[in-house]
This record gives sequence, structure tokens and C-alpha cells, in this order.
Amino acid sequence: MSVQRLFWSIFQTLYSLMVTVMSLVSSSKRAQSFIVGVPAYVTKWKVFFPQKDLRYAPSFRSRVICCASMEVLQAYFVWRQYECHLKNQNDTCFWQLVKSGKSEREAEEMLKGSQKQDRNELLFQLFNINYKKDIPEIFRQGTCAFKTKVEDIVKYKDDGCPVKRPRMKVIKVHSENIASKRFWNDHLCLLKELGQVTEDLNKSKPDYDDYVESFLHEGKLMPSTWIVIRVDGCHFHRFSVVHEFEKPNDLRALDLMNACAASVLEEFKDIVFAYGVSDEYSFVLRKESQLYGRRASKLVSAVVSLFSSLYSMKWIDFFPHSMMKYPPYFDGRAVCYPSRKILRDYLAWRQVDCHINNQYNTCFWMLVKSGKSTSEAQNCLKGTQAHDKNELLDKQSGTLNYYNTMPTISRRGSCVYWDKETKAVENNEGAAGKSRKIVVIKHCNIIDMSFWEDHPEILG
Ligand code: GTP
Ligand code: MG
Repeated sequence: MSVQRLFWSIFQTLYSLMVTVMSLVSSSKRAQSFIVGVPAYVTKWKVFFPQKDLRYAPSFRSRVICCASMEVLQAYFVWRQYECHLKNQNDTCFWQLVKSGKSEREAEEMLKGSQKQDRNELLFQLFNINYKKDIPEIFRQGTCAFKTKVEDIVKYKDDGCPVKRPRMKVIKVHSENIASKRFWNDHLCLLKELGQVTEDLNKSKPDYDDYVESFLHEGKLMPSTWIVIRVDGCHFHRFSVVHEFEKPNDLRALDLMNACAASVLEEFKDIVFAYGVSDEYSFVLRKESQLYGRRASKLVSAVVSLFSSLYSMKWIDFFPHSMMKYPPYFDGRAVCYPSRKILRDYLAWRQVDCHINNQYNTCFWMLVKSGKSTSEAQNCLKGTQAHDKNELLDKQSGTLNYYNTMPTISRRGSCVYWDKETKAVENNEGAAGKSRKIVVIKHCNIIDMSFWEDHPEILG
């Protein structure tokens, strides 16, 4: 138990660093959009914890720090690695004391106000542990992951000479000082990608955190506005092909998205409404929400990462006969809407988009099924209006008003919100209604005002 908690705290520290760096990389490619690498955590869980079930979907928060120069990046690494060291040294002492019979409170008291040297001595005197020698470097120093060029032998020529091909390989190292000149010089790929470290920094200087944080722009979202966090699958076209989704709509995939959205609403009580279609979901936070101090990066990363890990965890429930071949990932962005009307217009826009795409895709795949090539189908649909497409669908299917016979989930997308459920319960005076709030998934028309008039509590 104690070892596990020790491992957890260390792992969380390391992982948060990786996630931050990953977010930095991705956000530079796509302004104002965050990608958080969580599904891989869910899919790799079984490899590292084969005897334990992952009991709920983890989520991670991230922040973006733009390091204006190589010196700031260096200070950032010094700070994170120093934090890792301090935390690990403290946790090692704490759990050794607990293992030796002290209560958690006693252990905390003993460590209060202690300095680095005191903790090293405590470990040595009481437990015969030499911190530097006996504690694995992954715990003490954390992990660096980066890409380096390697040459793989792909085949041998007839004369026995190897044919090599260069490729980028991710390597992991647990170096003592990841911000040092030596570390940088030893890894030419870092030098090339990130620049040169010209001077070593004093590792234990205490104020690197303030210095680095001064570069942090934690964009707070406008107060008293509805925040919409839109999550969108990255390269989902490829994901849908690899996993043989039915075309144009795979009900299993849509139900999986909906189940993830419902769990997100249950987790974040400030989310009052969600609308989803295809590989995207828009989550609406109540106007007064103070979640994460309305910091965009924390809000977006927490919602995106939870959604992503739920998708991987719930996959098996919706695709019991199809293995997930690789974990999908999602990006997200936050936009503020200052009035009910503008927010409703946004949601109506997404629903109109759902309808237009669904109508087009249904026609397209019906033409392909009828024997046309994909480019012929594309040409047939070029310049067609909604009524042309409806006629085409009626003709191809032999059904009048075919489009309207399609499932509402495909035509309208899905709405997720809290609604009252009334259950009949028996009491002394006979049957009576007992109501509670539950998350519902419905396929309502949110373009018409009537939905909002019937549910005034959603937008308050
Ligand atoms: P980026 O979001 O830019 O990374 O691209 P993307 O490939 O995710 O495409 P986009 O978000 O524009 O659209 C989602 C894509 O997911 C669709 O174009 C489809 O290819 C695929 N998709 C989503 N839902 C389904 C489905 O139910 N069935 C099938 N066959 N494909 C789907
Ligand atoms: Mg997408």
C-alpha cells in the first residue's frame, strides 16, 4: 500500500510534466487548442497493472507556459526536476516512517520544517538508506522522453551489406540534471531541436518557480458568460476506417460518444448541457461557473482528458467484438457566449451542420452502394440543394420521405442534460411520485425555441 502510494505520487509528478510538454507541442501547432494524451494511459494500464482493474477514468489538467528563451526553458526544467527531488525525498521519508510503525500524523510532524540534509540523515540513521544510492533514479530524478534519430537495418544486400534506414525513436532517460550543459551536449537531438544551453543553473536556487510562472498566461475566461468547451476527435476519419465503422453513421460509435458525454456531465456538475455529433461534443458550463477559476487551459484539458480516457475505457461496452487497435485522441477549445441567444445560435449551428453532413453522407454512401465510384458519387452531388438530395434518396431507396425515416440520432445529433425522472413509489397512502435528477441522452430539435421553453432550467 505505502509503496503504491509512493509510486503514484512520483508517477503523477512525472506524468504531469510530460503532459505539460505534450500540450506545449500540440498547442503550438493549433492555436488555442489543447491535446492531452490520456487514452494511451488507459490502454497501457493493463501492461503495468495486469492484476488490477482501472476503476474509473483518470483525467489530467494541463497549463501552457510559453518559454520565451532557452534560459526560461532551462529554468523550467530545473524547477520541475527540483520539485520532483524534494517531493520524492519527503515521500520516501514519510512512508518509511509509516512502515516502521508511526502513524501518518506522527510522520508528518517529524518531517515538518526539515531540510534536505535532515531528511537524508533521517533515512540513513533510522533505515540505513543512502538516498542517492539506494533510491532508483526514476523516483529521484524523473523521466525525460525525447525523439532521437536512429538507423535501423531493414534488410541485407546479396553481398551481406546491411541496408539502413533512419527513423525517429522515442527514448527515455533519468538524468541527474536535465537542464545542464552536459546533458544537452550528450544529446545532439536536443541541441538541434531546442537550442544550446550556455551555462549551468544553480539547481537549488529557490525562486525559479516564480520566474517561470511569470511567463504563464493563464487566460481567464470572461466572467458571467456561458463557456462552451468543444471536444473533437483528432484524425477520426482514419480511426473510423481502421476500426471499420459503419458508413455513414455507426450507431455503436455514436452511443459510445454519448455515454462518455453523460459521464462528463456527472463528473463536472457545472456542465449544464452538451450537444454531440460525429466525433465532436460541445459542453456548456453554467454562466456563473468558477470551475478552475475559469482558466481556459485547465478547464479544456480536464474535460478533454476525461472524455478521452472514458472513450478508451468504455470502448469494450460498445464494441465488444472489436479490439481497439490504437487509442484515439481529442483536441478541445473554449469559447465564451455572452447571451442566451448567441449560445442557442451556436448550438443551432452545430445541429444544422449535423443535418447537412448527414444528408450529404447518406446520399454519398447510397450512391457508392448502388455501384458508383467515390468520385462519381462526389460529382453527382456537386451543387445539389437539400431538396435535390431528398429526391435522390427517395429515388435510390424507393421510399417516400426516406430522410425522415432515418434514426433521429443521425439527423439531429444528441443532447445530454440533467432532467427530472419521476418514479412511482409505494407509501402508506398508496402510490406517489418521487422525482430525482438524472442525466438523459435525447435527440431533440434544439433549433426551435420550443426545446428551450420546455427546459428553462438548463440555461437558467
Ligand atoms: P480532424 O478533426 O481535423 O483531426 O479530422 P477528422 O479526421 O477527425 O475529421 P472531422 O473531425 O472533420 O470529421 C470526423 C470524421 O470522423 C468524419 O469525417 C468521418 O470520417 C469519421 N466518423 C465520425 N463518425 C463516424 C461514423 O459514425 N461512421 C463513420 N464511418 N465515420 C465516422
Ligand atoms: Mg475530428
